[in-house]
Amino acid sequence: MNNHIRILVADDSDVTRNAIIKITNMVDDFEVIGEAINGEEAIQKTEELKPDIVLMDINMPIVNGLEATERISKEYPDVIVIIMSVQGGTEYLKKAMFSGAKEYIFKPFSMSELVDTVESTIKLNNERRSNMKIVRSEDKEAKFSTFFSTKGGVGKSILAFNYAIKLAAIKNKKVLLIDGDFLFGDIAVLSDKKPIKTIYDIVEDMAFESFDFLKEYITETDNGVDVLLAPRRPENAESITSDNIIKINDIVKKNYDYVIIDLGTNFNNSTLTFLDYCDEIFFITTTDLMTIKNTKIGIDVMKSLGYDDSKIKIIVNKFQKNSNVNINDLNKYLKFPIYFTIPEDRKIIENSVNIGKPVGKVKMFSKGKFEKMLIKLIETE
Ligand SMILES: Nc1ncnc2c1ncn2[C@@H]1O[C@H](COP(=O)(O)OP(=O)(O)OP(=O)(O)O)[C@@H](O)[C@H]1O
Ligand SMILES: [Mg+2]
Repeated sequence: MNNHIRILVADDSDVTRNAIIKITNMVDDFEVIGEAINGEEAIQKTEELKPDIVLMDINMPIVNGLEATERISKEYPDVIVIIMSVQGGTEYLKKAMFSGAKEYIFKPFSMSELVDTVESTIKLNNERRSNMKIVRSEDKEAKFSTFFSTKGGVGKSILAFNYAIKLAAIKNKKVLLIDGDFLFGDIAVLSDKKPIKTIYDIVEDMAFESFDFLKEYITETDNGVDVLLAPRRPENAESITSDNIIKINDIVKKNYDYVIIDLGTNFNNSTLTFLDYCDEIFFITTTDLMTIKNTKIGIDVMKSLGYDDSKIKIIVNKFQKNSNVNINDLNKYLKFPIYFTIPEDRKIIENSVNIGKPVGKVKMFSKGKFEKMLIKLIETE
């Protein structure tokens, strides 16, 4: 870890800035190298001073902290922004994480809280970056693809599940579907399997030695794909570290042809680790305005993470031809190409979920438009 940590404090309150400076004066390795009283100044000073850390207040005049965070993480991906917020602003915090902040801290905070937060955020960031380098330098055998979105309910799980099954059938290859939505995973329900063994059990039992150990935790389905299910209880999600995920990925990549990962909506550490690892990210959006706005933020965050544009593939799901938003408008707004569209096909999807079978196994509706487009998507692979 870099021992000397250079900090920029952005807060419109003199009292808060002075309190932080007082705290940092007492910590040997911390130095406040600049102060900003609004978001615009925070951006300017980041450019000038290239701090290691920006401690950023949310509500500030001229340019607010979220906008400033978004711009800083986009333009200076090496700078780590930590949001300072008052308790209870969870909606703000969600936005803050989407805008590219790496961590948050509640005001007022003690010296030890600040030191712990800054040090652990730098440590995690360094670990993730060095993992990313290892991931990129190694020759992978399985192709890793993920279905991700910055908005819930857009169809990530349905798409990941059905894509995995169709991929195995069309290519006649070994496919593993990982439920990477550790908090609210849906793959157990979709594949009609009880989560008896999950990724959490691998971590508990430290079963990282080889595929022989790990395969005990992977569930076979009669759909032709294997699944690695999410923890049974949301509180267990926290126990799974980036390092655990890398170890699991490194083992399964040698034993499958394709690994498909269904993710949650947050840029938390496990999500970032999977995203880093993947060869392609299917970024799912729909045409409603909230989702489009969140998609734009998500794309910017991914750019700030240094992902190549070619790794990000935007899929518009639940698309309706008579929608107010057309693909050209979406393209312009997102400033990013739309890779694929999948139509709204409610009947098929509902039936598929209810009987725990992939689309296409629902005989009555097989060869529906959803399935057809999914096959086309696989053919672009
Ligand atoms: N192309 C489609 N046509 C019609 N309905 C769809 C389509 N894709 C997904 N859905 C429906 O949208 C709902 C949400 O799907 P799903 O659970 O896969 O989304 P998600 O992004 O994984 O959500 P979460 O964020 O909660 O994990 C489901 O009811 C699903 O059946
Ligand atoms: Mg889901």
